[in-house]
Amino acid sequence: MNTGIITVTLNAAIDKTYYMNHFESGSVMRVDRVHAIAGGKGLNVARVLQQLGHKDVTATGFKAGYNGQFIAKAAEDEGIHTEFVDIKGESRVCLSIVDEENHSFTEVLEPGPLVTIDDEARMKEHMKELAQRASLVIISGSMPKGCRLELYKELIEICTLQGVDVFLDASGNGLVEGMRGKPALIKPNEDEIKPWLKPDGNGKDAFGMENGISLRSYGRAIQNIAKDTGIPRIIVSLGAKGALACMDGVLYRIRIPELKAVNPVGSGDSFVAGFAYAHVRQMPVEQCLRYAAAAGSANALKPTAGCVEPEDHMRLMEQIEVEKWID
Ligand SMILES: Nc1ncnc2c1ncn2[C@@H]1O[C@H](COP(=O)(O)OP(=O)(O)OP(=O)(O)O)[C@@H](O)[C@H]1O
Ligand SMILES: [Mg+2]
Repeated sequence: MNTGIITVTLNAAIDKTYYMNHFESGSVMRVDRVHAIAGGKGLNVARVLQQLGHKDVTATGFKAGYNGQFIAKAAEDEGIHTEFVDIKGESRVCLSIVDEENHSFTEVLEPGPLVTIDDEARMKEHMKELAQRASLVIISGSMPKGCRLELYKELIEICTLQGVDVFLDASGNGLVEGMRGKPALIKPNEDEIKPWLKPDGNGKDAFGMENGISLRSYGRAIQNIAKDTGIPRIIVSLGAKGALACMDGVLYRIRIPELKAVNPVGSGDSFVAGFAYAHVRQMPVEQCLRYAAAAGSANALKPTAGCVEPEDHMRLMEQIEVEKWID
């Protein structure tokens, strides 16, 4: 069985964290501890797959300059095989400043390199070759500057032509345009799916959670999006409220146990990794959803984004409820 998974991070970055006792702008500050890892949503997915024990993962995307070299080296040091496409410029540093005294958090994000049409062409060629060796491609996160909006759609079509499933976890225009390529699965969160929810006669969106409209009508709205777009599997993750999924027309409600979240950033990436782990092993859909939600919740227990402790994952697996909703 081919279980090879390719993760795509077009906008890869060095995720650097400065831990400081006290942070104030406009003066000289000294950093207590520095932590730097290969960052970007697809790299989070690759990392969590590794942690869950899936070895056959290749991370791709664009990388540029010395920062790009760091990203590849840091990922390789974690056991993630990388095959990035080199472009001109310098990959981004995304800097998080943690003020441990005031518990405040400041983010400084570099613009990153500019992608040319020639870079896109090389990425498409590369993708075609990678897809031939894989059973699943996962595209995550935002697109770097210069990329045409059509790129996600085109990459999805290239992989689909090779008979490989593509999961898309993007937001904004990346999601909207990427959906035109008909990925096998999308995993938006509540905010990301909102543009697709049509207002009802009273002008409320079909989501309507805050208006007290039931989760069932939310589910039906997701079912309609699947019908309208032809995307067979849509999972909307709801943070601490679990998830709703429309899988080949069938609705599922995923309930998770209450837990003390430390940092839920990266829980969506972990959710996707958990699903992918089970999917390439051809587990039944309910089991894939359980794997996914347990990985998302396990990530919320850790301070770093995109980190899952296998013991937490195993324990949470038993506490996740997946209910099939039949109207
Ligand atoms: N506070 C929490 N407590 C328990 N489980 C959580 C919590 N937040 C997230 N999860 C789990 O992780 C899954 C995905 O979370 P969420 O909906 O926040 O993803 P997301 O917004 O896409 O995250 P990101 O893009 O930062 O990776 C949820 O469906 C749930 O299983
Ligand atoms: Mg997300």
